Amino acid sequence: MSSQNEFIALRNTPIFDAFSNFGRRVFLPQGVFYWAGLAKNAAINATIGDAKGAELNQYLDVKSAKPVTFFVKNISDLLGPGIDASTIASYAPIAGLPDLRAKWKDWILEKCGLKAMPEAQSLISTPVVVAGVTNAIYFTVKFFADEGETVLLADKYWENYDTIINLNLGASVDVFNTFKDGKFDVAAMREKAEEIGAGQGKVILLLNFPNNPTGYTPDTAEMAAIAEAIVGAANTIQKPVVVMIDDAYEGYVYDDAAEKRSLFAFLVDKHPMVIPVKLDGASKELLFYGGRVGFMTYGFSSRWGVDLKQLDADLNNKLSGAVRGTNSNGSHVSQLLVLKMLEGMAKSIENRQKVIAVLQERYEAFKKAGVKLHAPEKGIFWDPYNGGFFAFLNLPKSIPADEFAKKLLDEQELGTIPVHTKAGVNGIRIAYCSMPVADIAPALDKIAALLK
Ligand SMILES: Cc1ncc(COP(=O)(O)O)c(C=O)c1O
Repeated sequence: MSSQNEFIALRNTPIFDAFSNFGRRVFLPQGVFYWAGLAKNAAINATIGDAKGAELNQYLDVKSAKPVTFFVKNISDLLGPGIDASTIASYAPIAGLPDLRAKWKDWILEKCGLKAMPEAQSLISTPVVVAGVTNAIYFTVKFFADEGETVLLADKYWENYDTIINLNLGASVDVFNTFKDGKFDVAAMREKAEEIGAGQGKVILLLNFPNNPTGYTPDTAEMAAIAEAIVGAANTIQKPVVVMIDDAYEGYVYDDAAEKRSLFAFLVDKHPMVIPVKLDGASKELLFYGGRVGFMTYGFSSRWGVDLKQLDADLNNKLSGAVRGTNSNGSHVSQLLVLKMLEGMAKSIENRQKVIAVLQERYEAFKKAGVKLHAPEKGIFWDPYNGGFFAFLNLPKSIPADEFAKKLLDEQELGTIPVHTKAGVNGIRIAYCSMPVADIAPALDKIAALLK
């Protein structure tokens, strides 16, 4: 068990160098869960604070004679026969159900095309379960950014990043230009990363593909170029580059040319100063938004020369300390449901494909109908999009996005999200993911009518 002064493996990696004060300080003390684990097989276990015993097994319709965590009997009826109430009534382990964590790691290796690489198993950490991708982003920023430090984002980014980075954690956001000539502006990203790296002990870069709000996913060559630029920047600045990869929309790609693998696959073990952190979860990927199951997974470098098993344990302890002091642990029933989906993954993917097919149709209808709005000479243009849930229509400065979205709603009864930032982004995000095909052309006609 790691203690405050140990973390031998972790201390010898750039992860520790990149940590914020919080990241350095936090650890999981040997508390109730530790002692409960030790006492699991003791004759009498008087450790954990959940009411437990075998006296009510018959009343609760529990088949075994073993002690169970007591539950309110009618929860069984609500859950149905597929889920054993005596299992999910108890606390889940702090870092998540071990089987779920192992299966999600397997799923990551598969999604990333890393399964055939035998060393990949030890080069990625055991995912830690948190309450959704939002929570994963929150913790990761907290582990690396001190108040006043800068997190680098593409200038088209999910609004909640501001709430997390700025309002909750007191760090700053800086941005680079997202697109140039219809492609990801790799040079702008690298330039800004190096600029930040010159004045800060590390770079913290947060990227998101398929992207919210634009729906953009790079193709394979672009993804490779992004990874290469990150490695290049790390080489130049010789400081840790933490790359937070928000994969909330992983799996939703509608164009064969778009890269299906996460940027994580392109960054694991590519440079000793590059620390990729994959943030993903069941919310969108398994269409279980309300389940609040997200994961934080680190990529390691084989060149760190540390015991990677120990590193995984060190990291697990620190991340567990953060979870224990906030959420304490995640929802047991949600984790079990996600585990069951993973156990029957072929079926889950087949079922999810039904949804993706609907989204694909909407995407195609939207692309077709959207052409008529595209007027770059007037400053009205779509950002490139090929995945995720959204498309983004840029507007000229003369049409402030907030006013436009309000008018769209009041006069045309069409709800969209305006994005207007200090960095000069001005446009509306349209969630075609929630529009039936029949509504798409009429919705875009409403926008065209207002733009006239
Ligand atoms: C880019 C991005 N990341 C993360 C999330 C949140 O995911 P979760 O619901 O798992 O917290 C969203 C949800 O809208 C998102 O758009």
